Amino acid sequence: MRRTTLSAVLPVGIVGLAGLALTQTAAARSVAPRDFGFAPSFQLSGRPIGGAKPAAATAAHLAGSRIAAVDDGALVIDADSGQLIKTDKTGKQLAAIDIGKNAGLLTYDPAGKLAYVADRTGNRVAVVKVGEKLEVASSLKTPTEPFGIALSPDKKTVMVTTIADRTLVAFDTASGKEKWRTALGREPRGIAVSPDGTRALVAYLTTGTVDQVDLLESHKAEHIALSTASNPRRSKFSSMGSADSFARGAFTALFMGEQQAIVPFQRETPVQQIGGGERTGSYGGGFEPPISHQLAFLATNGERTSQITAQIGQHQPRALAWDQAHDALYIAGLGSDSIIQIKNASQVSIQEGVSASLIGKDRCGPDGLAVGADGNVMVWCAFTRSVQRVEFVDAKGQLATAAKVGTAGPSLVASSFTTKQHEGMVLFHASQSQVSARGAMACSSCHPDGRADGLSWRIDKQELQTPVLAGRVVGTHPFKWDGGDPDLTASLTSTMKRLGGTGLTKPQTEALSAYLEALTPPTAPARDAQQVARGQKLFDSAEMGCRSCHDGKAYTDQDKHKFQSATLPDADTPSLLGLAASAPYYHDGSAATLEALLRDRGRVHGMAEAAKLSDGQVADLVAFLETL
Ligand code: HEC
Ligand code: HEC
Repeated sequence: MRRTTLSAVLPVGIVGLAGLALTQTAAARSVAPRDFGFAPSFQLSGRPIGGAKPAAATAAHLAGSRIAAVDDGALVIDADSGQLIKTDKTGKQLAAIDIGKNAGLLTYDPAGKLAYVADRTGNRVAVVKVGEKLEVASSLKTPTEPFGIALSPDKKTVMVTTIADRTLVAFDTASGKEKWRTALGREPRGIAVSPDGTRALVAYLTTGTVDQVDLLESHKAEHIALSTASNPRRSKFSSMGSADSFARGAFTALFMGEQQAIVPFQRETPVQQIGGGERTGSYGGGFEPPISHQLAFLATNGERTSQITAQIGQHQPRALAWDQAHDALYIAGLGSDSIIQIKNASQVSIQEGVSASLIGKDRCGPDGLAVGADGNVMVWCAFTRSVQRVEFVDAKGQLATAAKVGTAGPSLVASSFTTKQHEGMVLFHASQSQVSARGAMACSSCHPDGRADGLSWRIDKQELQTPVLAGRVVGTHPFKWDGGDPDLTASLTSTMKRLGGTGLTKPQTEALSAYLEALTPPTAPARDAQQVARGQKLFDSAEMGCRSCHDGKAYTDQDKHKFQSATLPDADTPSLLGLAASAPYYHDGSAATLEALLRDRGRVHGMAEAAKLSDGQVADLVAFLETL
């Protein structure tokens, strides 16, 4: 078996692609049009990397998704309610079973009629028999917080990424026994296995990389940096150099044949340079919005490995499916209710196809795509908890010149949120001009999953790190690093103003607050209980004095303190909840890890006298802090 790898990223030749037309469908909407003032059409950053013919078929079970094509309908996992639901062709429910709230992704073995579902809170993979009924056949115990999932080509191995414990774990599907596990970086998400089964790609929320994991021998992960080179056709107008840009928010990966893989991500520029290198505020965007939406095409061609990107208009892209028969790639973004089709996706003749707007009086929030046997696309609408079918293929089986929504199924299950919280959830993810200038950003663009992008944004004269919100907004006021906003409403109002948004109404802002307060806190990783106890003793000790400021349920005195810090005169004591998921640390992100922070290596000095701690004590204290 010939082994192909995606390793180093080599620069590729750069050509501009002209004449790509954007075709929009005329699907009628009963809602106000989405205002993406800056909607770029599909443009590649370099020479297409595909071949002269479509890439070889790649089974859907090689990557996880929220939706899989089953018979002529779909199987979906709804994170909101935690239900796994089987639907018919029109999106009506045929069967359902409870897996667990906040569930991760699923993968489906059509031959064995088995679905493998990551139960994010239950720390297991639920193996579900899919027939007229849905029935849990067995459970595979995983490390903490499983999310991404994929089967090997022969379906003998199921692989799962776990977020809190940062592990990729593989199980034998026949025996249910663990085969191997390997360490991952922080905030891993989706996984895709290559068609020859030699390697897997793991996407990450905050590292700017995808990991390529060797599945044959070492099971080691190698990092591939996602390219943030700016688009050549745009760069002459752009103030943003690639050095200042970061790849963030990669939720999924997908192989198209052996030689190519696709990773959607966000390109974020938290500090813009203007003219002679002068730094300027970029929070609300300057000439260009500081966040754009990208597709990375990773390719290996014999010895050479290359990568190009395409900018797309789909905000927070994370739903992806490839129709090999028509060589059409489909991508949808959680923040925009539309799907883009890329024709000849795996070939040198790659080009933008048709786009489709999703329908309904409420926002769909597309979070998963699957291609049915007829080549049409089923969309999982996470906000309405329903399945829409979009027809991209005509009656003759050819790609249609315009797409249309064939059926929009009913809401399948009640939301676990109150009406108000649910409204807030939609507002949090939607890219609209009330929230940010020209609707270029949503709250979740920087706070994906209610967490943080790990970047420090230039706001006025400060560079301030994006804080984690999940689990950290109740009993922690005032808000912002300088404690400048007395309550959540004030914080949200000032945020939208800074982002250049026109502002939400008072009830909408309240809904947004209600959602933030209902966010599931990050799960703590598993740590040795004795080590944690030793660390807690240190934390509680009068000598360390941590409790004098980090006390109470949320580990904050809700007060400001003055440290010798480079930029912020007064800093509000942050809550320490969910600390394991909130690296880097301090208002300026200057401490990359908790070890670094305790060794006083950030730019904030004088918070605690940790110099006397032994390495063992630092490890104990870190273990304790990570369990908060
Ligand atoms: C461009 C990235 C970005 C976007 C978009 C964004 N935030 Fe933030 N958020 C940040 C940064 C950076 C801070 C810290 C700012 C400060 O301390 O002054 C922050 C701070 C906050 C805080 C204060 C948290 C605390 O513990 O003090 C809240 C609440 C918040 N954001 C919610 C939101 C909401 C709701 C939206 C959408 C309306 C949003 N953010 C959009 C980056 C962003
Ligand atoms: C005098 C009050 C005070 C004391 C004592 C104190 N802290 Fe802090 N802590 C703060 C403030 C204020 C910040 C924010 C500083 C900044 O970012 O500029 C902070 C930040 C942190 C952070 C970073 C949180 C994040 O999300 O970025 C951690 C972790 C932390 N403290 C842990 C500790 C530990 C452990 C101790 C005891 C060894 C301690 N602190 C003692 C006030 C205090």
